[in-house]
Amino acid sequence: MQRQALAWRRAGVRIAFVPTMGYLHSGHASLMRRARRIVRPSGKLVVSIYVNPAQFGPQEDLSRYPRDLPGDKALCGRMGVDCLFVPGTDEIYPADQSGSHSAYVMETRVSSSMEGASRPTHFRGVATIVAKLFNLVLPEVAVFGAKDFQQAAVIRKVTADLNYPVRIVVAPTVREPDGLALSSRNNYLSVEERSQALVLSQALRFVARRVSLCKSGVPASRLKADVLRMVAAQPRARVDYVEFFDPATLQPLQRVSRGTQMALAVFVGKTRLIDNALL
Ligand code: PAJ
Repeated sequence: MQRQALAWRRAGVRIAFVPTMGYLHSGHASLMRRARRIVRPSGKLVVSIYVNPAQFGPQEDLSRYPRDLPGDKALCGRMGVDCLFVPGTDEIYPADQSGSHSAYVMETRVSSSMEGASRPTHFRGVATIVAKLFNLVLPEVAVFGAKDFQQAAVIRKVTADLNYPVRIVVAPTVREPDGLALSSRNNYLSVEERSQALVLSQALRFVARRVSLCKSGVPASRLKADVLRMVAAQPRARVDYVEFFDPATLQPLQRVSRGTQMALAVFVGKTRLIDNALL
């Protein structure tokens, strides 16, 4: 992959990159479309599929994470992807004579709250694999989804702080017609859970409306209580966190107004779903 990328770069060919864990859906496809638009038909669009063990906790869904390589290949073909990079764990984390992998990338500010608090080693795993993939694919631009708002913020910070010559673009969240954000993990939901999972996007819309009606802002504590009540009305759903924060710094805000970012994580049955919006 690196040899190919170097050859392209030496020939002046632009490279756009969309990293994924596969089981691709229209959210991923929208990132590919955005990436293609940036590097034009003459550039190369690289997509990676790698279910990265380092970003899963010991109790998480690594072994049952959904996979469909034939379906993913077909989607990448339809999207005009030039190179689909599907490395194995033996290549990404080779266990050589000196033992296993021991160098990691850690972001220590924007990664500490929310997903980072609930999943302690998650962002270390994400930052490390993205740094490794950037070194293998050598893109000038990489596209990420706003669906994983904090992940995009962590990657922006790592890229800036470590001087990666990569432009980070964040594309909007793609949703089902009823509001549910597309996610490979939606595949885990039963019919009953699927309908209760709507509470995430409903909570975002409810709070956005509340905030738009009150120019002086609403206390975060009151909105959190409202959201907890909405989620509690769904028997299969349980809140992990609800946060209101500044989208640029991810600093929590006590008073919520237009321009505040809201994010939440909710277990629906055993499946943990996340969503967020700019209010
Ligand atoms: P994955 O969950 O496969 O997501 C790959 C990319 O697709 C991420 O940038 C994510 O934010 C984006 N995405 C997912 N659902 C989306 C939706 N409904 N609308 C728009 N974009 C969406 O995120 C990861 O993989 C991994 O952490 C990765 C960055 C590949 C590192 O392993």
